[in-house]
Amino acid sequence: MTHAVSPAQAAGQPGTPSLYGGTSTRRITIRDLAAAKERGEKWPMLTAYDAMTASVFDESGIPVILVGDSMGNCHLGYDTTVPVTLDEMTLLSAAVVRGTKRALIVGDLPFGSYQEGAVQALRSATRLVKEAGVGAVKLEGGERSLRQTELIVESGIPVMSHLGLTPQSVNAMGYRVQGRTDEAAHRLLRDAKAAQDAGAFAVVLELVPAELAAEVTRSLHIPTVGIGAGAECDAQVLVWTDMMGLTQGKLPKFVKQYANLRQTMGDAAKAFAADVAGGSFPQEQHSFH
Ligand code: KIV
Repeated sequence: MTHAVSPAQAAGQPGTPSLYGGTSTRRITIRDLAAAKERGEKWPMLTAYDAMTASVFDESGIPVILVGDSMGNCHLGYDTTVPVTLDEMTLLSAAVVRGTKRALIVGDLPFGSYQEGAVQALRSATRLVKEAGVGAVKLEGGERSLRQTELIVESGIPVMSHLGLTPQSVNAMGYRVQGRTDEAAHRLLRDAKAAQDAGAFAVVLELVPAELAAEVTRSLHIPTVGIGAGAECDAQVLVWTDMMGLTQGKLPKFVKQYANLRQTMGDAAKAFAADVAGGSFPQEQHSFH
């Protein structure tokens, strides 16, 4: 991403209205994100599933952290996001909230915690806000989750909507780019408008052609958050274990890998094992007498 002013510079300029840092220690709110869209300021979102990782991202100025149900694959060892429970989401969301001071924390409503209807959705969202302390929740679907979104928003809980590829429906739709036919593109636009009209404060667009994501972004007054949806979205999100190189195996095409933590951690573990086997750890400075 090219910035006329780097995030760090923007953060250091007094009075600069930026989501990237600065002197304010209050939490980012959905109003800050709406103002960023008006200014044309793009912002990053990362996932996190524990307090320590979240604290690193918070200190780095990441304004929005998603406790995604990708925790199923990335943290809990499930094959998909489908088995993730509201108990698991509540436990890990609370850890992320405790590890952060500034970022807006968005908690995913897991599969099965909102599909029954608006009342079930509100009960699940309320639990994430009361017990974990998240500032907003995310749910999948536009028109199909309309009543859920409306009731949660009416009750005072901000909702982020998730469209395009919706991983909780993997058994029905598989993992492939969405919105490629005219009909599917129109449906996605309708879903995005429905989510906005129902009161959502942002829309995640996952695996959507860049041109369609750009059109959705232009036609909404709320921010779009892209993942595999091109450069024109108002924000971009990546799963932290993918972008840090911790995920095993082939990464999706849309991921940019910024570090190789799998290599770094593996090398450190091997060095520790060799030290212990060879008797060179612990040494005098690590010992008590
Ligand atoms: O669960 C998750 O991490 C997500 C992102 C991919 C947007 O929903």
